[in-house]
Amino acid sequence: MAILAAGKGTRLKSRYPKVLHHVGGKSLLAHVVTAATRLCPPNDVYAIIGHDAERVKEAFAGCGIGFILQKEQRGTGHALMVGEEALSRYDHVLVLSGDAPLISPSTIENLRDSHLQQGSAMTLLSAVLERPYGYGRIIFRNGSREVEAIVEEKSLSASQRALREINAGFYAFATKPLFEHIRELGTDNKHHEYYLTDMAALLARAGEKVVALQAPDAHEVLGCNTRQELAEVDAELRMKKCQQLMDEGVTIYQPQTCVVDCDVAVEPDTVIEPFVQLLGATRIGAECRIRSYSVIINCELGDGVLIRNGCVMDESRIGARAVLGPYTHLRPGCHIAEGAHMGNFVEGKKLKLGKGSKAQHLSYLGDAEVGEGVNVGAGTITCNYDGFGKYPTVIGDGAFIGSDATLVAPVKIGKGAYIGAASCITDDIPEDALAIARGRQVNKEGWARQKREKSGVRSREAGQHK
Ligand code: UD1
Ligand code: CA
Repeated sequence: MAILAAGKGTRLKSRYPKVLHHVGGKSLLAHVVTAATRLCPPNDVYAIIGHDAERVKEAFAGCGIGFILQKEQRGTGHALMVGEEALSRYDHVLVLSGDAPLISPSTIENLRDSHLQQGSAMTLLSAVLERPYGYGRIIFRNGSREVEAIVEEKSLSASQRALREINAGFYAFATKPLFEHIRELGTDNKHHEYYLTDMAALLARAGEKVVALQAPDAHEVLGCNTRQELAEVDAELRMKKCQQLMDEGVTIYQPQTCVVDCDVAVEPDTVIEPFVQLLGATRIGAECRIRSYSVIINCELGDGVLIRNGCVMDESRIGARAVLGPYTHLRPGCHIAEGAHMGNFVEGKKLKLGKGSKAQHLSYLGDAEVGEGVNVGAGTITCNYDGFGKYPTVIGDGAFIGSDATLVAPVKIGKGAYIGAASCITDDIPEDALAIARGRQVNKEGWARQKREKSGVRSREAGQHK
């Protein structure tokens, strides 16, 4: 199989190659590679790359597919000329478009089977579109399914423009006739490129069999040449994803407002409220509730977790029945254990929060290991950074951290220890000890009254209205 992925994607007006643009949470090419590798082993799949080839290669390093470099992108036909050496080892080759990510493995499979059964030299996938603008149109031989030619949008005559059966950009070729005739392609067209689509007319004229197979679902073949098409395909993929999750027992209210990436998994009886984003490889257990405006990236949630409104969570693990939010921020590397609570404006980074521990209000807990049953008071801050390095804070089981404590790391707080409010803790605290580290309160009787009298102000109210 060859995947055409060398083009620049001029119409996207981007500094990045077209096939690396994302829909449904992964690149266009990643979708096509996934479909391709469902049908054949990765070492029989070749991506033809060219524009910003290094970046594309890097994005797919390790997935086992091969690469063919098309240094200059002189058209889809030229892409296969460049691939001749690698591809002519096979009797047949399937050619996929790297920018049509909705294609399903079963459609590619049907294309292959129909091609082999009919013994064609070229079988192309077609689709009937309401809005065929921008696609090549298929010219059939008098009422048959045999193809005479494919005419690109820019070369259409007025009457051809009305044709709605388009070339989807997916082909099966018998390699022998393909490479026998490919050098006959010319560049006499608007873009001065070698069009792979011209192979249809070339092969047909040489007496070879060229047929079209219609895709059952026209949506599958939508290409992404413009930002608008990217948005349409993205919406399509995400709606499909929500439908799949709903079929599997997940409640999603107003799914059209939710952004769920293709690789996300959610167990039954979880409820997802409007305007939630579930991204990357996020896994969510059963009977969770994700309230509105939360964004969850690459996280793993156990069963029965409650995420209240407005949480932002990245690369973290949350144990069963934990409760987060509203407005909790988990930066990468957090592990929130079973039944733990984190409340509003609590930020974690590389935080281990033990079973049943609570940090409910306005805290920063970074590089911290917090035991079980710990109460972290409002406004507690771990001072984990001194401008040079990052240091750990360790808090033992059952400790009580009074509000507004600053814990200057590295520091250890023993099991069951107690910290007085507003303490600045710089030294380790032994188990079960009380630590207070702040100035003592001093009350000066009558001080305020005297101050006012001295400055000629009789009452506090008068002072305020002056
Ligand atoms: C192409 C077809 C058109 C079809 C449409 C379906 C041609 C000439 N036209 O048009 O009939 O309806 O797909 O989506 O083939 N590429 C290369 N090397 C190149 C040029 C392109 O690898 O030199 C790759 C692109 O990265 C892309 C694919 O080939 O993934 C298709 O190229 P694109 O420019 O998008 O062709 P379309 O104009 O969409
Ligand atoms: Ca295209």
